Amino acid sequence: MLTLGIETSCDETSAAVVRDGRDILSNVILSQAVHTRFGGVIPEVASREHIKAIVPIYQEALQKADVTLDQIELVAATMGPGLVGPLLIGLSFAKGLAYARSIPFVPVNHLEGHLAANILEHPELDKHHLTLLVSGGHTMLVEVKAFGEYIVMGRTRDDAAGEAFDKVAKLMGLGYPGGAALDKLASTGNPRYFRFPRAVMKDDFQFSYSGLKTAVALYLNKLDPKEFDDKKADIAASFQEAVVDVLVTKTVRATEATGVRHVTISGGVAANSRLRKRLREETEARGGRLFYPSMALCTDNAAMIGAAGFYSFEKYGPGELIANAIPNLKLT
Ligand code: KG4
Ligand code: ZN
Repeated sequence: MLTLGIETSCDETSAAVVRDGRDILSNVILSQAVHTRFGGVIPEVASREHIKAIVPIYQEALQKADVTLDQIELVAATMGPGLVGPLLIGLSFAKGLAYARSIPFVPVNHLEGHLAANILEHPELDKHHLTLLVSGGHTMLVEVKAFGEYIVMGRTRDDAAGEAFDKVAKLMGLGYPGGAALDKLASTGNPRYFRFPRAVMKDDFQFSYSGLKTAVALYLNKLDPKEFDDKKADIAASFQEAVVDVLVTKTVRATEATGVRHVTISGGVAANSRLRKRLREETEARGGRLFYPSMALCTDNAAMIGAAGFYSFEKYGPGELIANAIPNLKLT
């Protein structure tokens, strides 16, 4: 079955063609550069950019996959969580296509899309697994019983992990979104240079990153420009280590509590090199296996939405064309 996936929940306009939830025939992603100078995403600006881009990006996705619209058998689009304006553009476009062609339509939860990126790329991944979902807007530990059946074990009380990366990157002059730039800078620094606070708290699966962000801001305020320049790689590495330490500790704790052996990282922060390495070591040391998506599938893209749409269609059948955008949609 050929699925057309559409993703417009934030500042990426993306369209993809996926066969049977497994083979990516195309995955075209346009990242809106316009927000960089504002240091964050401006929702109204994002909506306008999506309107301009959606048709050409969709056409390019068909062209790259070497298929015509007549061959598409299912259309899937993100319905939430995300920014309401951007969501409505992709969702309305997808519903219009499905209606015009009388083909089924499936609305997709963006978080489920991130989980699906691992299922798509790793056929050997157990249906029952645990995922650490870390993106710009979410930090969650989820036991995936099967596709569509989730137990949320814990989440962040304040900032998401990606948000902490972005805020600290901004303080360090690394641009927006700065997670990838901070990761790169940190790779040349010493993670033990300074011990920033870790909010490991009790025996639970909750996260908190706002204290860490404040601690880094206070630390940076005390430095003169020369000290900052000499030590910025070490500071980046030390901050990253504090984030990764907590993510790894809680994920390992969750695998021990559930006895689940297959673990995945999903969401944009799954691209983080230190997190991938540390969690792999810790998981394998306990006889488990760690999976994460390839770089292109970590951050927002339509291939993961197409795959999630296909799995959802297989299990629950088509969705309704009255499906609306839900900005604060939960994973349930
Ligand atoms: O999943 P995603 O594309 O968007 C949301 O759904 O939020 O995640 C984007 C987040 C941003 O905060 C970005 O800075 C972060 O993922 N990110 C990284 C890395 N690459 C992207 N954070 C740390 N290290 C990276 N290499
Ligand atoms: Zn995302």
